[in-house]
Amino acid sequence: MLEIKNLHARVAETGVEIIRGLNLTVKDGEVAAIMGPNGSGKSTLSYVLAGREDYEVTEGEILYNGQSILEMDPAERAASGIFLAFQYPMEIPGVATMEFLKVAMNAQRKARGEDPLSIPELMKRVKHAAGELSMDLAMLKRPLNVGFSGGEKKRAEILQMKLLEPKLCVLDETDSGLDIDALKIVADGVNQLRSPDRSIVVITHYQRLLDYIVPDAVHVLYKGQVIKSGDKSLAYELEENGYAGIIEEAA
Ligand SMILES: Nc1ncnc2c1ncn2[C@@H]1O[C@H](COP(=O)(O)OP(=O)(O)OP(=O)(O)O)[C@@H](O)[C@H]1O
Ligand SMILES: [Mg+2]
Repeated sequence: MLEIKNLHARVAETGVEIIRGLNLTVKDGEVAAIMGPNGSGKSTLSYVLAGREDYEVTEGEILYNGQSILEMDPAERAASGIFLAFQYPMEIPGVATMEFLKVAMNAQRKARGEDPLSIPELMKRVKHAAGELSMDLAMLKRPLNVGFSGGEKKRAEILQMKLLEPKLCVLDETDSGLDIDALKIVADGVNQLRSPDRSIVVITHYQRLLDYIVPDAVHVLYKGQVIKSGDKSLAYELEENGYAGIIEEAA
């Protein structure tokens, strides 16, 4: 699904290198967790995958189903099935959540060569998915993310993910700011999306989330590189001992 080889990426404006020779493979159907200290480059990696123009790839490869995505713009990447749930979801004033979902879903359908959904069918799907996430339907009328609480924003991200049915999902700290019940609801939402032809990358600081979304692989990012990979036991080891030992080992 995803193969990243010797990736180097820097901040376009300043030239500061953040991703420094990163290698990562995520197989079809796999749920991979990415952990790592603050500032290690986790969010930057997700932005580079999504194609954000503030970052420049200077070396290396990102292969998505065997094809390089480096020349694709963010819209083309989204159309090809790459979805990023942001650590800090953007507020979109003036665009009702329902309207946003309609445009996004129909754009995705168009990219797959499917007809747009009728309004009743669209409303039905959105309401059903929102209900599964225990979201208040009144929120669908409000501008996307504007005035949403932290947890509501995270649920809105998962709602988009459920409805857009992406192939490669990247969730950046979707657990932060969620109460215990919401954490379970969001994790259930992610687990429902697990499928042999979909891969999910979960960026998180806490083992707790991984009790609900059990990963097939865990990767530790440090200073823009993957310094250790393992199975879910690696997350327990980190929870117990912190990063110091692993960083020392890699040095
Ligand atoms: N546009 C930018 N300009 C300057 N520095 C940047 C920029 N974007 C990222 N950085 C720096 O790159 C480093 C990695 O940031 P990033 O947000 O990817 O970390 P992270 O691993 O997601 O951290 P956290 O766990 O706190 O979310 C940080 O030191 C950050 O300050
Ligand atoms: Mg981050």
